[in-house]
Amino acid sequence: MMVASRLAPAGALLAGLMLSAAAQPALAQGQVTVYCSILEEQCREGAAMFEKATGIKVSMVRKSTGEVYAQVKAEASNPRGDVWWGGPGEPHLQAAEEGLLDEYKSPKLPELHDWAQRHAEQSKFRTNGIYLGALGVGYNTEVLKKKGIAAPKCWADLLDPKLRDEVQIADPSSSGTAYVFLATTVQRLGEEKGFEFLKSLHKNISQYTKSGIAPVKAAALGETAVGIAFIHDMLTQKLQGAPIETVAPCEGTGYETGSVSIIKGGKNPEAARKFVDFTLSPDAQNINAKLKINSIPSNKNSLLSPDAPKFAEMKLIDYDTPRWGSPAERSRLLKKFDTEVKALPR
Ligand code: G6P
Repeated sequence: MMVASRLAPAGALLAGLMLSAAAQPALAQGQVTVYCSILEEQCREGAAMFEKATGIKVSMVRKSTGEVYAQVKAEASNPRGDVWWGGPGEPHLQAAEEGLLDEYKSPKLPELHDWAQRHAEQSKFRTNGIYLGALGVGYNTEVLKKKGIAAPKCWADLLDPKLRDEVQIADPSSSGTAYVFLATTVQRLGEEKGFEFLKSLHKNISQYTKSGIAPVKAAALGETAVGIAFIHDMLTQKLQGAPIETVAPCEGTGYETGSVSIIKGGKNPEAARKFVDFTLSPDAQNINAKLKINSIPSNKNSLLSPDAPKFAEMKLIDYDTPRWGSPAERSRLLKKFDTEVKALPR
């Protein structure tokens, strides 16, 4: 009697433990360090899902794309990160070319749209495409109305002196978004005229922010009339009720190929490969739909948000990601922007 009554609770405890082990892997199955260049909330949600599915512990750091590139380069002799998740393709391609990333052919590659497969091939399988995002302009309708400024339709409209101190864009050295804008401008107008445009625009820029999303948030709050960033990020603000409208500029615009890469020499290569497979899967890519983030996913089986910007309705330039992601071009353009544009008085 005594024995039975002591055994019963122990049995119940054991059964309880087995149940919770089935619901959530209790044993640590390793770890992976992820440098994350998408939105903070996407990074957090993805890390939690991956931990739950695999038992692998994720340490996540959110930084803008240019900042992660600089960190991966600085840590090359003793890499601390394993995976670089998100951000436009150019800094990933530069890192790939500079030998900072590992080659990996994910079994998920055949599930991806052609543009993403091409991106992987062009990088010699050292990066992968996870989403597309078109660059554009977002404006706060209330601020423009109050100041009596017409809604911009074209890039050229942003040079209007009435917009002095009313335009924000990030710094292209830290932000992948702003680098896509720099490269789009140079590709669209040619280098000489492109830099003339950037110098004129400089007069209207109130600040070059560190992260690409900051001008979108500032426009949503009415802290700036106009922000230059990815249209899908502005749409998220609009869907949340901000008085913001978006434009794909009339002259044509560029776009990003959001990327994921494995850092060469990382301490957890096996877990890194699993994490990359995860980012290419509908499970991870459907986080966007869940959080109302409207970039266009690369897996053919992922959900496409009905609110996602319609590429077919925009004038897009034939944006040359590999060219602008080559180490020589990216380093040269960034340096030239710093000395010939950013350093100018306004
Ligand atoms: C946001 C966008 C992404 C973009 C990223 C770049 O997360 O939703 O599409 O790739 O910003 O961030 P960065 O700060 O490097 O411009």
